Amino acid sequence: MLYAFLKTLHLIGVVMLVGNAVVTLIWKLAADRTRHSSLIAFAQRLVILTDWWFTVGGVILLMLGGYGAAAVAHLDLVRIAWLLWGQVLLVVSGALWAGVLVPAQIQQVRQARAFAEGRPIPEGYWQAGRRWTIWGILATALLVVAIALMVFKPL
Ligand code: HEM
Repeated sequence: MLYAFLKTLHLIGVVMLVGNAVVTLIWKLAADRTRHSSLIAFAQRLVILTDWWFTVGGVILLMLGGYGAAAVAHLDLVRIAWLLWGQVLLVVSGALWAGVLVPAQIQQVRQARAFAEGRPIPEGYWQAGRRWTIWGILATALLVVAIALMVFKPL
């Protein structure tokens, strides 16, 4: 019962984290394509807001549920390959998020604040956007691999 509860918590966290990553990418790129300054600025503010609630919130639930379930079932976090690699993929994806995506988002939201008041959109905004898109797809793909690992449990 406790195991099932913790696993449910874990899966809600996974859905929040991966769902938000995929959907944010789509609506943020759609907003950029409009080239409409105030709309882009609004979308950029929402990227930060939803990142905070769903990425951070999702990771907290994922970890609480995942480590909780592993403890309840006495699963070895290092010797069981799918558990070890699930953790590694989460750490690498988190490092990309903290090291590349968050700085790009902060740069973009600062620029958006300026161009929402009527100034032209600077080239740096688009460069940061391309960086955010490429590394964001990679960070999300790592999480999708983690989902497959957790489900297939190879080795
Ligand atoms: C902190 C690292 C992680 C730990 C300690 C952990 C732990 C666990 C545990 C104990 C289970 C239950 C396995 C079972 O009952 O068969 C599980 C299932 C699952 N985990 Fe993780 N996990 C981690 C990271 C992840 C990540 C990063 C993802 C994907 C983004 C993920 C996705 C899943 C999925 C989809 C399941 C359901 C698998 C199934 O029931 O077949 N986990 N995880």
